[in-house]
Amino acid sequence: MVVQNNLDLGDSRKWIVLEPFIHQVGGHMSMMKYDDYTVCKPLVSQEQWFYETLPAAMKRFTPQYKGIVSVHLKKDSMGNLSLIACPQTDNRSSLDNASKESSMTIWQKLNQANTSSGDHTFVKWNHGPLTNTTKDSCQAKAVLQTDLQYHRDVSSIMEDANGNQPEKNSYNPWGLYCHKQHLNRMSSKYNENKLHQFLLLENVVSKYKCPCILDLKMGTRQHGDDASEEKKARQIKKCEQSTSASLGARICGMQVYQADTVQYLCKDKYYGRKLSPDGFRQALLQFLHNGNRLRTDLVEPIVSQLKALLSIIKKQNSYRFYSSSLLINYEGLEKATPSDNHPQGHCQHSSCSLPHGNSHPKVDVRMIDFAHTTNKGSRFNHTIYEGPDHGYIFGLENLIKTFQSISVGE
Ligand SMILES: Nc1ncnc2c1ncn2[C@@H]1O[C@H](COP(=O)(O)OP(=O)(O)O)[C@@H](O)[C@H]1O
Ligand SMILES: [Mg+2]
Repeated sequence: MVVQNNLDLGDSRKWIVLEPFIHQVGGHMSMMKYDDYTVCKPLVSQEQWFYETLPAAMKRFTPQYKGIVSVHLKKDSMGNLSLIACPQTDNRSSLDNASKESSMTIWQKLNQANTSSGDHTFVKWNHGPLTNTTKDSCQAKAVLQTDLQYHRDVSSIMEDANGNQPEKNSYNPWGLYCHKQHLNRMSSKYNENKLHQFLLLENVVSKYKCPCILDLKMGTRQHGDDASEEKKARQIKKCEQSTSASLGARICGMQVYQADTVQYLCKDKYYGRKLSPDGFRQALLQFLHNGNRLRTDLVEPIVSQLKALLSIIKKQNSYRFYSSSLLINYEGLEKATPSDNHPQGHCQHSSCSLPHGNSHPKVDVRMIDFAHTTNKGSRFNHTIYEGPDHGYIFGLENLIKTFQSISVGE
């Protein structure tokens, strides 16, 4: 959503420069980090409406909704694009000054020097001062591989659908792709007088040092009531040709911490779309495999949370969660010794204590992405459905069965 900016941009001390969210495993828009505990994404009114009218019973299984924030795009003289959130709009001051200050911590460069199509652009997320910038694409690429990383010691491996590993990266490749695309779109439509509205949501993986994340698109139907005939036909085909039809769930993204290689194994939605039901089960096994062993200890907590969610969804009359996802998250880092290669930079707790014995549960199941969710009370003009979302229920039941089959070693 975009609104006109009256340039009352508030006190620069309150401005927040958004950073790319490095644990984005799926989606098509760019998820941004607002602070350590909060992510933000471009606002879609239907999603905002969902969060604002959310039934209390579902709050346990959704990210906490933290409101909306206005985001201003700022391009400097070198073409670097920054996304600056303006949480307060009480005092006037100079955006130029704020932008310079913020560039000392992070800024984004969209190098369009060698581009006619967006494919050849580089995005650089630099934590250094502005004077360190370069327009040289090779250098930009090198920085990109070292700066946008989970932390010093953990990188990611992206496998293609055949299990090949074409390149090693130090960031979630899908997230980076989304950031590049999003910045290209924003840059081409750049208008410094526009304010973009973003939704602020709890970062549901902030409590993990090495988050393992599975993004599952749930249900047997993905298109919203507002989809064009063309989009509807595309979505129906994707469902028919994937586990969406057979299982009511399909993998849209995944990252799994591999303790043996100290890397994340990453899979994207194209991998997920090609899976057969058996391939889907194998992928769940991979999600629970840390490189050394299968984490069977996670099956029971996952199943118990899925069952609790199932009983809540069964009671949600008229809700349809079209194209929403279920995130299953757990801590990949099992134990630390002083010699362990783990992310010092990512410790959320001053003691850098381990998850074991901490108050948060081992695994976490959350519903996300409600841009096409509808219900009877919706103020959007949609079809009114009766009863619960049977496609979603079908997906949850199959997930429960599949995880249970893993625990008994079928
Ligand atoms: N609240 C959240 N906390 C942590 N990660 C999130 C959260 N919401 C989304 N993500 C991450 O961002 C990705 C895309 O989110 P999603 O809401 O599906 O975006 P889109 O609307 O572009 O599909 C997810 O796959 C997940 O990795
Ligand atoms: Mg999504």
